[in-house]
Amino acid sequence: MLDTPTDCLDNPFLKDGSHVSLDVRNYCDGRVLLGCVRDDAAAVVFFDPQYRGVMDKMKYGNEGQRQRRRFEMEQMPEEMIVSFFQDIDRVLRPSGHLFLWVDKFHLCEGISNWTMGTRLEIVDLLTWNKGKIGMGYRTRRKSEYLIILQKAPKRAKGVWTKHNIPDVVEEKISDRGHVHQKPVLLQTALLEATTNPGDLIIDPAAGSFSIMEAAHRLPGRHFLGSDLVKFGGGTPDPDDAASV
Ligand SMILES: C[S@@+](CC[C@H](N)C(=O)[O-])C[C@H]1O[C@@H](n2cnc3c(N)ncnc32)[C@H](O)[C@@H]1O
Repeated sequence: MLDTPTDCLDNPFLKDGSHVSLDVRNYCDGRVLLGCVRDDAAAVVFFDPQYRGVMDKMKYGNEGQRQRRRFEMEQMPEEMIVSFFQDIDRVLRPSGHLFLWVDKFHLCEGISNWTMGTRLEIVDLLTWNKGKIGMGYRTRRKSEYLIILQKAPKRAKGVWTKHNIPDVVEEKISDRGHVHQKPVLLQTALLEATTNPGDLIIDPAAGSFSIMEAAHRLPGRHFLGSDLVKFGGGTPDPDDAASV
């Protein structure tokens, strides 16, 4: 929710009177943000839920500063994730894509509880090799996973236009103040494959706003995103919308 309401009359993406802005960092609940979006308005949604997953299962006891920052973050209960999925299903246009970041735990346990009753179907899986090694009782984690879902009707022809993206991608990231930030170049390639100039891309739990950065690398794409918390501190950024 913003101090400065955007005039959304005649906006093709947002409902009339919505108080969120395109192409800036909004600070509000992602479900409030999604509630402002018209049905079938978005070409792509990226969703990177804040669940405990692996961290819940593995109580290492020797957490460093980075892990403590992870625990301090706002967690999403299961029912909240389900409600995000219902909104995402509504705002995605037919044949639009949902890119869902998951950890090893959710990859193995499955996400069928989240997609139940939606028109979303899993169409692919991509592995991100972070290029650095993490923790693990048995193997040590080096990767995260991106489940690719599509809203019905399922099709690739005409809606996935870039055919050189491998399903294992290594990309190192520089620290931008958020422990969960995702790789900008990979996300840019995926947006290039699935969107056109004029399309809307949404990230309702945007963290470091890596998706906004990716969207703005491509001509004519519109971004809508929010997070509950402002990360990184420092001086105010011109891309920040005022929060209440
Ligand atoms: C895994 S991180 C996202 C990282 C992001 N993909 C990036 O590249 O930086 C999940 C984010 O969800 C935010 N979050 C938790 N509950 C939320 C909610 N109800 N609405 C919006 N954001 C929320 C957390 O503050 C956290 O920044």
